[in-house]
Amino acid sequence: MRLSRYSVLLLTAILTSPSLVVAAPRASDSSARGAAPAPRLYDAEIARRAAEVNADVIAWRRDLHQNPELSNRVFRTSKIVAEKLAAMGLEVRTGVAKTGVVALLRGVRPGPVVALRADMDALPVTEEVDLPFASKARGSYNGQEVGVMHACGHDAHTAMLLGAARVLAAMRPQLRGTVKFIFQPCEEGAPNGETGGASVMVEEGVLRDPEPGAIFGMHVTNTDFGTLSYRPEGELAASDRLRIVVRGVQTHGGRPWEGIDPIVVGSQIVLGLQTIVSRQSDITLAPVVLSIGSIHGGVRNNIIPDSLVMEGTLRTYDPAMRDSIVGRIHRTAEDIAASAGARARVEILDSNPVTWNDPALTARMAPSLARVVGPRAVRVVRPRTYSEDFAYYSRQIPGFYVFLGVNPPGTPEEGSAPNHSPRFFVDESALALGVRTWCTLALDYLTTASGSAPPAPGSSARR
Ligand code: NI
Repeated sequence: MRLSRYSVLLLTAILTSPSLVVAAPRASDSSARGAAPAPRLYDAEIARRAAEVNADVIAWRRDLHQNPELSNRVFRTSKIVAEKLAAMGLEVRTGVAKTGVVALLRGVRPGPVVALRADMDALPVTEEVDLPFASKARGSYNGQEVGVMHACGHDAHTAMLLGAARVLAAMRPQLRGTVKFIFQPCEEGAPNGETGGASVMVEEGVLRDPEPGAIFGMHVTNTDFGTLSYRPEGELAASDRLRIVVRGVQTHGGRPWEGIDPIVVGSQIVLGLQTIVSRQSDITLAPVVLSIGSIHGGVRNNIIPDSLVMEGTLRTYDPAMRDSIVGRIHRTAEDIAASAGARARVEILDSNPVTWNDPALTARMAPSLARVVGPRAVRVVRPRTYSEDFAYYSRQIPGFYVFLGVNPPGTPEEGSAPNHSPRFFVDESALALGVRTWCTLALDYLTTASGSAPPAPGSSARR
């Protein structure tokens, strides 16, 4: 459908002229304007090698796109990833968190360690994009027969990080330190009754032996082509799934004084919870959202049931506020119930921490982004209400997580299909920018983390 956009000629033009990637500013976000940072000696080599590997990256991505696998089932994908990394000469470890793959590229000289993370899993979504390599895959999710699609672009993530591994492996003679490549399954969450994803990768030692000094993450999204966006500190929301069980005493609906009504108590709790955001939280510090999405209790009109169950989601950006609000949820639910002689039990399920961009690391790495796409295409954005299990890495070690805009050039974000849509579309011309971003972040980190001055650029190389 959009195959003409994939032409290598166009891609080469984009690669060699990043200043062509000029995206219109949005009122809500700010571009990191200013002079382009001076290039480093290896920028040209990264661009050249990324161009050389680009046809393979696109082919890998198309193959993964056509053969998507759900969260804890990425058997084929991880086998392909492990084989390719081994063929590049990397030290490969498989079977981490079931189907995760971790590979080490050791430079010829000792130095710091940096981790790059991609996720590999697809979603229970039936593809509606008209592509020759569209997914027709089917699968089973929580007992339901579903279509399977890379509707969040993790196929692109896997292919781009493989491309970066090949580029960096070829640059090994000038590599000081170690790059740890993390290919993670199950970012989208495990099916009922299973565990998986970043928290399990961390438990199984992915951040040890050797321990990275920093970790980078990148996600494709439906924003302006070739933009790289981020937010210092809290970038993506922490999410907590709540369950509150209210226990009363069952009785006849006509004689409520003979029991304890969990329906009325539950109603008071829902309203009480809203005052945690509106009356008890300093919302000038960071956004907070608390929503109850389901309430179940009772079977008929004239029986007051003995219990009620509600579930909801808490979204926060500040860890201290999150902890405070969780405490207030307990207090509000339990004390309102107690005031009626009922009992409330609050459970927090399936938490993701806030995806936190370390301020010092962010300040240090942001100029690297501008060298890849140009300063006009680097955006500092508002918090996004997505959540990401990358947060489990970046709460252990300094992390920096960026979004790569993959809408076709000229296609605005407004009206385009977002991640998780059956029409989510990745313009493959952006993949080479992702490969270059990975390599630039890794080499810049290893170069500057070792305490040495970055290589002096030639003054004539200014873009
Ligand atoms: Ni995703």
